[in-house]
Amino acid sequence: HGTSKIGDNHHLWIGGLDTVDLAKKYGTPLYLYDLSLIKNRARGFKKAFEENEVGYQVAYASKAFSSIAMFQLIEQEGLSLDVVSGGELYTALQAEFPPERIHFHGNNKSLAELEFALTAGVGCIVVDNFHEISLLKMLSSKLNKKVNILLRLTPGIEAHTHDYIITGQEDSKFGFDLGNGQGDKALQEVLAFEGFRVLGIHCHIGSQIFETEGFTLAIEKLFGHFKKWEENYSYFPSVVNLGGGFGIQYTSEDTPLSPEQYVSAMIVEVKKQMIHFEGQELPELWIEPGRSLVGDAGTTIYSIGSQKEIEGVRHYVSIDGGMTDNIRPALYQAKYEAFVANKMNAEPTQTVSIAGKCCESGDMLIWDIALPEVCEHDFLAVSCTGAYGYSMASNYNRIQRPAVVFVENGEEQLVVKRETYEDLIKNDVPLKSNVFV
Ligand code: LLP
Repeated sequence: HGTSKIGDNHHLWIGGLDTVDLAKKYGTPLYLYDLSLIKNRARGFKKAFEENEVGYQVAYASKAFSSIAMFQLIEQEGLSLDVVSGGELYTALQAEFPPERIHFHGNNKSLAELEFALTAGVGCIVVDNFHEISLLKMLSSKLNKKVNILLRLTPGIEAHTHDYIITGQEDSKFGFDLGNGQGDKALQEVLAFEGFRVLGIHCHIGSQIFETEGFTLAIEKLFGHFKKWEENYSYFPSVVNLGGGFGIQYTSEDTPLSPEQYVSAMIVEVKKQMIHFEGQELPELWIEPGRSLVGDAGTTIYSIGSQKEIEGVRHYVSIDGGMTDNIRPALYQAKYEAFVANKMNAEPTQTVSIAGKCCESGDMLIWDIALPEVCEHDFLAVSCTGAYGYSMASNYNRIQRPAVVFVENGEEQLVVKRETYEDLIKNDVPLKSNVFV
């Protein structure tokens, strides 16, 4: 992926740097991000809109990986930002991300979070439910502010990888269902309140999607509904946000499309639908890629430690991280590929399973992978860990979160420090003497 290559020293190099040197310098586990790959993807998404002269925003779904440096990079690339909590918003503001390019998501935003977002001046609130509409009405009046909103709709299309499911009414905690009239009711309510500027709608149909059909079907369904909205409420959205979900290649089984292919298919379908809307302007198209911007740009380097061989059954190779820095195999049975970063020329001679260090049998990173002979102090590189790795990391077993380093063109920068033992106890409050005795 990206700028990964095998160096003359048979080590894995990324961004013009020897990953073995980086692992020795910063310690392991270590997340490395190949910035040129992130930039290429970001530019690929933007180019597809620009070539088609379609108004757009590409909002990075920060849940995939967030840090101050990451938000600065996203800002430099001219993208917008999708945040889903006060914490993501706070981090973005600390990174001096322009608030007007921030979109605030979530199915249970608190009053305090909404007030924080409106006071900060975020670009729009993606409204999820009726409770939120009432909170926003209250805040709009209290703060005397017009609130830009998108209505999150569930169109009854669920897409994942190669499959999509079409349901009349979706069983989802997110958004207003189109099938049962909730979407219409929500639209009427928000149009009737003068404190709202109803920019348009949002829908997100799934994640790790390899086909364009799910998106085009969603567009067809949404625009079919817009016809009713035009007739009944004289409303036509000026923004259509189609969410994220563009797939990446974790293993050779995965066959994603390019950013341009996903976006072009969306544009073609939207333009096709516009034939039915004479006199209306083409809405701006917004998307929210997370995984496809950072997933395959990330590689985790671990140190190999103990091994256990059960004759004729399994050969376990343990690493110094695991489910605390990558919960995805345990949570979703996600598959990854791995390489011995300091022995890239060695032929695979054995089938091993990579075990994490947590006290939990389920803490297995990879089952049955072909690797060369390995020994203690070898480095294992697991690729495609850039999305939902660090962001879903935990301190289970009081294991410290790893460090994160950005690399590009032979330059590196530490962007998230490794947690220390002191970090682990910083919120602990010891018992007072003579209490609970
Ligand atoms: N927009 C919305 C409203 C979303 O809910 C999501 C992801 C995205 C955008 C970004 O989707 P992406 O482009 O990254 O697929 N933890 C899971 C993924 C959960 C995705 C949740 N929503 C994983 O590790 O696979």
